[in-house]
Parts: sequence; structure tokens; C-alpha cells
Amino acid sequence: MSDFKRNILVTGGAGFIGSHVVRLMVKKYHDYRIVNLDKLTYAGNLANLDDVAQSPNYCFVKADIADFEKVSSIISEYQIDGIIHLAAESHVDRSIKDPFTFARTNVMGTLSLLEAARRHWQSGDGDFAGKLFYHVSTDEVYGALELDSPEGEAPYGSELFLETTRYNPHSPYSASKASSDHFVRAYHDTYGLPVVISNCSNNYGPNQFPEKLIPLFINNICHNRPLPVYGRGENVRDWLYVEDHAEAIDLLFHNGRIGETYNIGGFNEWKNIDIVRLLVKIVDRLLGRSEGQSDSLITYVTDRAGHDLRYAIDSSKLAGELGWKPSLQFEEGLERTVRWYLDNRKWTEGVTSGDYLRYYQEMYGNR
Ligand code: NAD
Ligand code: TYD
Repeated sequence: MSDFKRNILVTGGAGFIGSHVVRLMVKKYHDYRIVNLDKLTYAGNLANLDDVAQSPNYCFVKADIADFEKVSSIISEYQIDGIIHLAAESHVDRSIKDPFTFARTNVMGTLSLLEAARRHWQSGDGDFAGKLFYHVSTDEVYGALELDSPEGEAPYGSELFLETTRYNPHSPYSASKASSDHFVRAYHDTYGLPVVISNCSNNYGPNQFPEKLIPLFINNICHNRPLPVYGRGENVRDWLYVEDHAEAIDLLFHNGRIGETYNIGGFNEWKNIDIVRLLVKIVDRLLGRSEGQSDSLITYVTDRAGHDLRYAIDSSKLAGELGWKPSLQFEEGLERTVRWYLDNRKWTEGVTSGDYLRYYQEMYGNR
């Protein structure tokens, strides 16, 4: 028997969102053991968890979620009774270059976890008492929304993604996440595995790998490198501070209704170019540069293939059922994020050396 009240497996805990989830749970639940399973790809970095690495209720296991035997032995050895599944390949541009890796990790990896959990958790009479498989997904599975002139709260369009919106993914990344969501639901419907799924909008905050828009551009502004804005910068995303997402995951893991899907979002839509202008302003100010000094770094480049025009999410189901709402205004969260990157340049240098630099040069040349 384990000494802990619960034994929770967090997959992808060394990545951006996963590390915030692990930190929150290790600090909040001293009577839970948090087992972080991560393959440590280019996106996984144990330095993200330095502050909790020595905690008695935390441990790390290096493993690939697609390795069914290994995943099975971990579930058994650590007497896992709950899984929060975040491990994934997560960058759309990479998925366009290398879709197989996305299918392998996001689809086969999720299936391997589901099957391992089912085999270990299902008791003789077929029930799964006290177990939960929580799957973390993205709003990108719903496809793209139009830009129009709406009334009400959404500034760029009247339509929002609802939990009932039909799946219509466009990129290999979103197609692989959609597929994983379907497998999770199939395990619930077919075997009765207790599952909860959440689909969240774009996250930002500390520890995000600097290939995604916000950290990439902060880093480039610091180094006076061009800021490659795809197309005309008119695409719209809903943005949520990563710690608010981690709080929502904690809430849903404990209180979400089994078999349900919940949207998580910030009611915070921004055009890319407006974010870029705001970032330039904040970084220049915090670096003591004159206002507008880095504006000339903004460079319009060839659009991303299949670039989704607009994502906007309605998270009122989560707000209504569990009272969750984002805690931060975007401008405040963005300034906090920029300060973190300026104060932690060694982190960025560490993760952008070697492998990533080669990838970046292949994608963008020397821009
Ligand atoms: P990330 O790329 O920063 O981290 C992914 C983590 O998964 C890394 O630590 C990596 O090492 C690990 N990993 C990758 N392949 C693995 C494998 N085969 N086995 C074990 N570990 C593996 O991603 P993120 O931005 O933190 O996203 C986490 C999850 O949240 C993903 O499922 C993603 O689809 C979802 N999500 C992300 C966002 C966002 O804006 N970043 C928004 C909504 C949902
Ligand atoms: P990204 O951070 O890659 O997240 P996602 O594609 O999952 O939304 O990109 C956010 C938006 O920024 C998206 O519309 C693409 C755009 N973008 C650029 O214009 N330039 C860039 O270099 C990157 C990485 C993204």
C-alpha cells in the first residue's frame, strides 16, 4: 500500500503547461504523490521544476508515453489512480514539417496510456471506482472561426467554440489532438473508463518554449532579431495565462463530471499584430530602450500553410458549474511574462542551444 492518499501521474510534466500543473499539485496536495512522466524531448526541461524537485511527494520518471510496456509498469509500480495527460507534440509549425511524430506521440501515445490505465484499473466486476483519466486538449480541434462584426463581448466575431461544436481540425497537430480526444471518449463509451476532457485556448506565461509566438518574439526583440509575422498578422487567438489553466485543470480533475468535456478560455481575443505591437512596447520599456525603437523588427513573412483565421472559446460551462474564471488581465499577464523572460535569460539560452538552433535556422534561415 502507498503512504499517499492519491498517486497521480502527470504526463508531460517537464513541459510548459505540465510544469505549472506539477508545481501547483506538489505544493497544494502534500498527501498526494505526483509522478511526472516525461520523455524530455526538446520541449521538456527539468529545470522548469527545480523548486519542487526535492519535495517528498514528487518524483520524475523518464519514459515515452507510446511505450506501452513501460507505461504499464509505471502505473503498476506507483499504484497510479489518476492520470493528468499533457504529454504531446504541441507546435503547429513542427507538425507541418513532421506529421508522423505527432501521430505517434499524440495518437498512439494517448492510446497506449488509455489501454494501460484500463488494464490496471478495471476491477473484476468491471468498475473503475476512484480512478480518473483527465485528458488535456486544445481548442484547435474545433477548426477556425470567421471574422465578422459581432455584437456583445467577442470583439472579432459572433461565433465561439462550444463543447458541442463539431470537430474540424486543419493542421496535423490539431488533427492528432482531435484523434486523441476521440480515443479518450471511445474508452469512456466502450469500456466505461472514467474520463474528463478539457479543450483550452492559447496559453502564455513563464517556461514556454521560445518557438511559440510570445516567447519567440520576446527573445527576438531582446536580440534585435526580426519578428516573423505570418501573413498580415490578422489571425485572432484567445489567450490565457498558464497558471489560470493549471488552476482550471486542478478544479476539473477534482470536480469535473465524468464523461464530460469542458472548454477553458480567457474571453480574451487578440489579433497577432496587436500582440506583437504590445510586446515590442513592453520589452523596449523594460530594457530602457526608447519608445518604438524595435518597431522596425516587425517583418511580414509568408503565411503558415492552412493557417486558422480565428479561435475563440466559450468557457461558460466551466464558469457556471465550478465558478472558474481567469485571474489576470492580458496586459498584466503579458508584462509578468516579459519580466520572467528578461530575468531568466539563462533558461532561454539553455533551451535554444543545439537542437533548437538548428531547427530554427532550417525554418527561418538567419532571420
Ligand atoms: P510542450 O511542448 O511545452 O510540452 C510537452 C511535454 O511533453 C514536454 O515536456 C515533452 O518532453 C513531453 N513529451 C513529448 N512527447 C512525449 C512522449 N512521447 N512521451 C512522454 N513525454 C513526451 O507542450 P505544452 O504547451 O505544455 O502543452 C501541453 C498539453 O496542453 C498538450 O497536450 C497540448 O496539446 C495542450 N494544450 C496546449 C496549449 C498551449 O497553448 N500551449 C493550449 C491548449 C492545450
Ligand atoms: P503559436 O504560438 O504557434 O500558437 P498556435 O499556432 O497554436 O495558435 O502561434 C500563435 C499565432 O501567431 C498563430 O496565428 C501563428 C502566429 N505566429 C506568427 O505570426 N509568427 C511566428 O513566428 C509564430 C511562431 C506564430
